[in-house]
Amino acid sequence: MAYRDLQAFVNRLEEEGELKRISQTFSSELEIAEITRRVSQRHGPALLFESISGPRIPVLTNVFGSVKRMALALETESLDDLGHEVLHFLEAELKKGHLKKGRKAHAANPFEDPELIPEDRAVCQELIFEAEEVDLGRIPVLKCWPGDAGPSITLPLVFTKDPETRTRNVGMYRMQVLGRDRTAMHWYADKGGARHFQKAERQGQVLEVAVAIGPEPVMIYAATCPLPDGIDEVRFAGFLRKRPVELVRCRTVDLEVPACSQMILEGTVSPHERCLEGPFGNHTGYYSQAAEYPVFRISCITMRRDALYPATVPGPPPMEDCFMAKATERLFLPMIRKAIPGIVDINLPIEGIFNNLAFVSIKKQFPGHARKVIHDLWALGGFRFFKVICLFDADVDVQDLAQVLWRLGNNMDPLRDICFSEGPIHGLNQTALGPETGGKIGIDCTRKCRGEGFGRTWPKDVTMDSDVKARIDAIWSRLGLQ
Ligand SMILES: Cc1cc2nc3c(=O)[nH]c(=O)nc-3n(C[C@H](O)[C@H](O)[C@H](O)COP(=O)(O)O)c2cc1C
Repeated sequence: MAYRDLQAFVNRLEEEGELKRISQTFSSELEIAEITRRVSQRHGPALLFESISGPRIPVLTNVFGSVKRMALALETESLDDLGHEVLHFLEAELKKGHLKKGRKAHAANPFEDPELIPEDRAVCQELIFEAEEVDLGRIPVLKCWPGDAGPSITLPLVFTKDPETRTRNVGMYRMQVLGRDRTAMHWYADKGGARHFQKAERQGQVLEVAVAIGPEPVMIYAATCPLPDGIDEVRFAGFLRKRPVELVRCRTVDLEVPACSQMILEGTVSPHERCLEGPFGNHTGYYSQAAEYPVFRISCITMRRDALYPATVPGPPPMEDCFMAKATERLFLPMIRKAIPGIVDINLPIEGIFNNLAFVSIKKQFPGHARKVIHDLWALGGFRFFKVICLFDADVDVQDLAQVLWRLGNNMDPLRDICFSEGPIHGLNQTALGPETGGKIGIDCTRKCRGEGFGRTWPKDVTMDSDVKARIDAIWSRLGLQ
């Protein structure tokens, strides 16, 4: 049964022993972040800070910060199984997009279409603050690191519509607080919200924006997913939670937002207005440099009476976002396997910050197959940013770092098995040659064959005879050696 709202998820976490309430008063400036960092980095529970010095709204951190909590959020026993359903959903959505106008799309899943509910049923509009009453000081926005330029909203769902097609986008982009009614809008240029803004800016128009903070957990997660263009995050959330997302119309902008959210910020981003955003201590474990980003001007804040303020604390891994990204690795693996035949498994290790390092196993079928897969990955959506991609044979468990490092050292010759490339870089790539492009390296750690210039016989793995293993297996428990 899908969670009605974030409060219902908090109750579930508490029942599961996955949430700790903290009644002592702490500050939203650095203190909550430091406590959360210590707990996150040892894979501890979600934290509910009930008493904050300043605003009276409790702060919820680290809700997604473990594999178990991610599975609880998505209400699944197995993220891998859910991944197969995700593939079917994406295929059906993309097919529908390609159907000619006028032809009937095949029966939609009843959960996917959001439901628009009247304003008087929308808890996120229980309290309304407009004009002079708009004040971000009502919200305990966290400042996470001492060198941060200011407090930043770190789990916002940014809703925009394409100025021409009115297609919706929802993305998660941090928002540094600049004043009582202004924030920076830190969307990278290639993100959905940024593309809507670029169109509006070209037409000299303002872009309406609504920011939902703290809807139910599936919608929060969906906003972070690398969905193909044209696939609506709200429909995706409805599909994942097997219940439609309830939306309500905003009061001052022509957008709809999840009605169960803790709070909504409504406003606009104006063409050619920029501010300095950052430095910000982010999930690379380094501070991002200050750079120019658009300004979000808030016209209205609405809230629940019992609002919580959910926030994630970035920092050197492992932190909460690593587990959100790991869920994405599992959920989108079947789609990647479909796009690039031969791939068996992928491990994006959390220390690689989901942009730096990928370990990939393949069922190698022909000379050069590993190199083909490396280049196919660089050509595929989010993988275009990956700095290091290492390819292994199918019998290597890429989730096991010991196996990965053992094969990596043994199976490659740097003169033959490394390929370099150059291309676009992620905004967080701080060491790249240029501001927009940089180098990439692919390492082929698969067994080499004659067609790949390996003229000798590939050495056999050291393994035990199966009859000896069976004999020892039979007496193993009696030896008392486990
Ligand atoms: C906690 C968290 C914070 C994020 N912050 C940003 C950010 O500040 N800017 C950004 O462009 N992407 C950020 N992302 C990544 C985007 O949310 C993600 O790429 C998402 O797919 C974007 O959606 P879009 O493709 O519809 O724009 C963040 C992700 C997470 C999980």
